[in-house]
Amino acid sequence: MSTAISPTAYNYKVVRQFAIMTVVWGILGMGLGVFIASQLVWPELNFGLPWTSFGRLRPLHTNLVIFAFGGCALFATSYYVVQRTCQTRLISDSLAAFTFWGWQAVIVGAIVTLPLGYTTTKEYAELEWPLAILLAIVWVTYGLVFFGTITKRKTKHIYVGNWFYGAFIVVTAMLHIVNHASLPVSFFKSYSAYSGATDAMIQWWYGHNAVGFFLTTGFLGMMYYFVPKQAERPIYSYRLSIVHFWALITLYIWAGPHHLHYTALPDWAQSLGMAMSIILLAPSWGGMINGMMTLSGAWHKLRTDPILRFLVVSLAFYGMSTFEGPMMAIKTVNSLSHYTDWTIGHVHAGALGWVAMISIGAIYHMIPKLFGRAQMHSIGLINTHFWLATIGTVLYIASMWVNGITQGLMWRAINDDGTLTYSFVEALQASHPGFIVRALGGAFFASGMLFMAYNVWRTVRASNPAEAEAAEQIVVVGAH
Ligand code: HEM
Ligand code: HEM
Repeated sequence: MSTAISPTAYNYKVVRQFAIMTVVWGILGMGLGVFIASQLVWPELNFGLPWTSFGRLRPLHTNLVIFAFGGCALFATSYYVVQRTCQTRLISDSLAAFTFWGWQAVIVGAIVTLPLGYTTTKEYAELEWPLAILLAIVWVTYGLVFFGTITKRKTKHIYVGNWFYGAFIVVTAMLHIVNHASLPVSFFKSYSAYSGATDAMIQWWYGHNAVGFFLTTGFLGMMYYFVPKQAERPIYSYRLSIVHFWALITLYIWAGPHHLHYTALPDWAQSLGMAMSIILLAPSWGGMINGMMTLSGAWHKLRTDPILRFLVVSLAFYGMSTFEGPMMAIKTVNSLSHYTDWTIGHVHAGALGWVAMISIGAIYHMIPKLFGRAQMHSIGLINTHFWLATIGTVLYIASMWVNGITQGLMWRAINDDGTLTYSFVEALQASHPGFIVRALGGAFFASGMLFMAYNVWRTVRASNPAEAEAAEQIVVVGAH
C-alpha cells in the first residue's frame, strides 16, 4: 500500500463562507423567532404596520431558520464531508461559488419580498415564482457539484453520510419543482397549477417531505459524519445505517396526509398517512440508536467535550420528536393536537433540539479545521452555549405542551346543552403564561448563538486559512 499526496487541496473557501453564514442567519432567524414570540405576548409589537405584523414576519422566520440557517449548515457540511470522504476536491470552484452567492440572493429576496406581502401562501414554499426559479437553478447546480464530486472520488465506496446528503438533494429538487408548478399572472403573483384537495395534498406532500428530507435526511448525513468524528469511534453499525437509509426514504414520502386529517382529503389517504407515520418510528429510531451507540466506550468524553454534548443531545431530541410525531399522526390524538401549540412544540423539539443542535455541533467541529486552528477560541463558551441551548429548548417545548393540551381540551369542552364551555378568548388568556415562557426559552437559545458568533469571530481572527488548506492536503491511501 502506498501513500500519495495530491498537489491540490480541498475547496474550503466555499465551506468557510457557508459556515460563517450559518451563524449569521442563525442569529437573524432565531432573533426574529424571539421577536414574533414576543408579539404573541405583547401584540403592541406589531406596531400597527403591515410589514412588521406577525402574519408577514412568521413566514420570514421559517424561511430564515429553515433555508438560510439550516440550508447554509447543510451546504457547508455536505461540501466538507463529500470532499473529505471522497478524498477529492469539489468538481468545480465556480459552480460551488455560484451556489453560495445564488443561495444568499434567494435569502435576501425572501427578506425583501415576504414583509412586503408577496407570497404564494403555501407554507414553507412562500417565495413567488422569480425567486422559486432562482432557487431551482441553484439547487440543480448544487446537485451537479455534489454528485460530480462523488463521480471523481478516489475512494472505492461512497460513505453512508453522502447517501443521506444525496437523497436530500434529489428529493428536495423534486418536491420544490412539483409543488411550485404555477401560472404567473404578474411579476409578483402566481396561481398554483393544482386546485382544491389536490392542491392541499401536493402542498403537504411537499411540506412533510421538506421536514423528512430537508430537516431530517440532510441532517442525518451530518450526523453520520460528525458524530463518529467527534467521538473518535467508527459508526456503531454500518449495516444498520444502510437499512436505516432505505427504510427512511421509502417510508417518509407517504406520510404527508397526516397534516390533513379530518379534511376534504379522501379518508383512505388520511389513514394511509397515519399508518405510514407510525411505521416511520422504526427507521427514525434506528438512526438515533446508531448515532447514540457510536459513543459506546466513549461516553466519558461527554464530561469534557461540549461539542460532543451538542451532537448527542441533538440525537436525543431527534428520538423524542420522532416518537411524538407518529403519536400526533394518530387521528384521535391529532383531533386534540391539531391547530394547537402542541404542534408548535413538536416543530421546535425537532427544529431547536435536533436541527439547530446538530448544526451547531458540526460548525464547532469544522471551524478550527477550516481556519487552521487546533481548536475553538474558548471551550468554556461552547459549554455555556450548550446549556443555554438545552435549557432554551426545554422551556420552549414544555410550555407548548402545556399550552397545546390546555387549548385542545378547552376548545372541545361542551356544556350539557351542547354549547361551548369556553370562548376562544378564554383559551387565549390561559395560553398567555406559556407564551411568556416560550419567549424566554427562545431568548436563551438565541443568546447562545451570540456566544457562538463571538467564539467563531475570535477563532477566525487568529486564523490562517492558507495553513488550513496546506494541512489538509489530500492523502490518498492505497493509491497506485
Ligand atoms: C430562538 C429560537 C426560536 C424561536 C423563539 C421561535 C419562535 C417561533 C414562533 C413564535 C413561531 C410561530 C408560532 C405560532 O404561530 O404560534 C415559530 C414557528 C416556526 N418555527 Fe420557530 N423559533 C425559533 C427557532 C426555530 C428554528 C431554529 C427553526 C428551524 C430550524 C424553527 C422553525 C419554525 C417552524 C417550521 C415554524 C412553523 C410551525 C408551524 O407552522 O407549525 N424555529 N417559531
Ligand atoms: C417520524 C417522524 C415524524 C412524524 C411521524 C411527524 C408527524 C407530525 C405530525 C402528525 C404533525 C402534525 C400535523 C398537523 O396536525 O397539522 C407534525 C407537524 C410538524 N412536524 Fe413532525 N413528525 C416527525 C418528525 C419531525 C421532525 C424530526 C421535525 C423537525 C425537524 C418535524 C417538523 C414538523 C413541522 C415543521 C410540523 C408543522 C407543519 C405545519 O403544520 O406547518 N417533524 N409532524
